[in-house]
Amino acid sequence: MKSPSRSGVFQAGTDERLEAFAESISFDHRLYRQDIRGSIAHAEMLATVGLISSDEFTQIRDTLREIESELDADRLPIRFELEDIHMHVEQALIDRIGDVGRKLHTARSRNDQVSTDIRIWIREALDEVDAQLEALQRAFLGRCDSDMDVVIPAYTHLQRAQPVLAPHYWLAYIEKFGRDRERLADCRRRVNQSSLGVAAVAGTTLPIDRDQTARLLEFEDVTANSLDTSSDRDFMLETAFVLSVIASHLSGWAEEWIIWSTVEYNFIKIPQEFCTGSSIMPQKVNPDTLELTRGKSARVMGNLQTLMLLVKNLPMAYNRDLQEDKPPLFDSFDTVAAMLSLAAPIVAGSQLQRDSIASRLEKGYLDATTLMEWMIRKGVPQRRAHHLVGAIVGEAMQRDVPLCDLPLDIMQAHAEEIDDSVYNCLGSKNAVNAFVSYGSTAPDQVRFQMDRWKKILA
Ligand code: ARG
Repeated sequence: MKSPSRSGVFQAGTDERLEAFAESISFDHRLYRQDIRGSIAHAEMLATVGLISSDEFTQIRDTLREIESELDADRLPIRFELEDIHMHVEQALIDRIGDVGRKLHTARSRNDQVSTDIRIWIREALDEVDAQLEALQRAFLGRCDSDMDVVIPAYTHLQRAQPVLAPHYWLAYIEKFGRDRERLADCRRRVNQSSLGVAAVAGTTLPIDRDQTARLLEFEDVTANSLDTSSDRDFMLETAFVLSVIASHLSGWAEEWIIWSTVEYNFIKIPQEFCTGSSIMPQKVNPDTLELTRGKSARVMGNLQTLMLLVKNLPMAYNRDLQEDKPPLFDSFDTVAAMLSLAAPIVAGSQLQRDSIASRLEKGYLDATTLMEWMIRKGVPQRRAHHLVGAIVGEAMQRDVPLCDLPLDIMQAHAEEIDDSVYNCLGSKNAVNAFVSYGSTAPDQVRFQMDRWKKILA
C-alpha cells in the first residue's frame, strides 16, 4: 500500500528498508489520544471557518471517536508503511469515510500536528509527575511529627558536621521537590502553547482560526512565528532538564539512604518489600530499589544529552531528525514516574534506627561549632574562638570523651572565658536547641517550616 504522503511526484515505491528505518509508529502510537483530540479540534475549526461543512465535521468527529475506541482496545493494525500515528489515524479515517476524511488535513501539516500532539502529551505527563512529587512531599512531611525526637548528624564532605533534627532532613527534601514542582509549572507554561495552524513552515493561505483550536485544546496561547514553531523543541529540552533535576534529587536521596542503611551507619531500615536478597549470601537484604533509582537517573540525564545533541545543528525549520525526540522523552517520563512511585512508599515506610543513632551521636563533636558560637557571644573574636575550640576538641579526642564530659578546668585552661553555663550548649540535643536563625534546625524553626508545608500541602 502506498503511503498517503507519497504524492504523484513519486514514480518509485519506498524501499522496505527505508520504511523500517523511518517508521515512528512503534513509539509515537502513545500519542493517539492527543492526535485524535487535536484532529477533532482542527476539524471543528475547519467547519467554523467554512472550509468543511458542519455535517462533514460531525462525520469526521464521530469516526475519529470510533477509531479512538479501537485504538483503546488495541484493535488497529500497525503498518510500517504508514510511518507514524498521525498517518495511521488519518488513513483509518479515509478508509471509513473516503473524501470527507481526505479533507481533515486541510491547512495542516504533520509538522504542526506532531508538535501539537506532543505538547498536549507533555502537559498531561507533567501534571502526573507533579502529583507524584506532591505525594512524595507528603510522605516526607508525614514523618516529621513522629521523628521530631530524633537528632541526627548533618554531614559536610561526608564527615560529621553539626547535629540536626531528623525532620530537618525531611524538610530539606520537601524543599528540593518543591523547587522541582515550580520548575515544572514554569516549563509547563511554555509547553502549553498551540503550534496548530503553523502548518508545514510558513503558515497557510487558508482562512483558519488558530485561536479557536488553541481554545478547544486548552492551550494558553498560540505560538507567534511559524518558522520558529516548526523547528522548536525547546519545550522538550526544558522538560527533559526538569526531569533530570528530579532524577538527580532522587538519586542523591537514594544514595544517602543506601549509606544510612548500612551496618556501618545503621540510621534507617528500608521496608523489606523494597529490598532483594542474594543468591549466595543468605544474610543479605539489599536496597535494590534505591540502587536502581540512583542507576536509572543516569538514563534520564542521558536522555537530556540526547535531545540537546539532536537539535543543536538543525537549521530551521522541521527536520526529520526531530522524529528521534520522542523515545528519550518518553523514557525520561517513564523512568521518573517509576522512581517516584517507589520513592513515596519507601519514605513513608522506612524506620529510623533510634537506638543506633543515639548510641553514636556524641561521636564526632557535632557540638564544636555551637561551643565556638557560645564563645563568640562571650566576646571572643571568631577566628580566636575557632582556634581555641579546635584545641579543646583535640584535648577531648586525646581523652576519648565528648565535649560535654570534658571537665571545666580543662576547658578553662584553654579559654578562661568559659564557665559552668557552657554545658547548656554541649551535647547534641543541647546544641540543636541552641540554634536560632531562620531556616536553621532550631526546633521552633523546624516546626515553623513543618506548619508552612502543612498549609501548602493541605
Ligand atoms: N513521523 C514524523 C515525526 O514524528 C512526522 C512528521 C513528518 N513530517 C514530514 N515533513 N515528513 O516527526
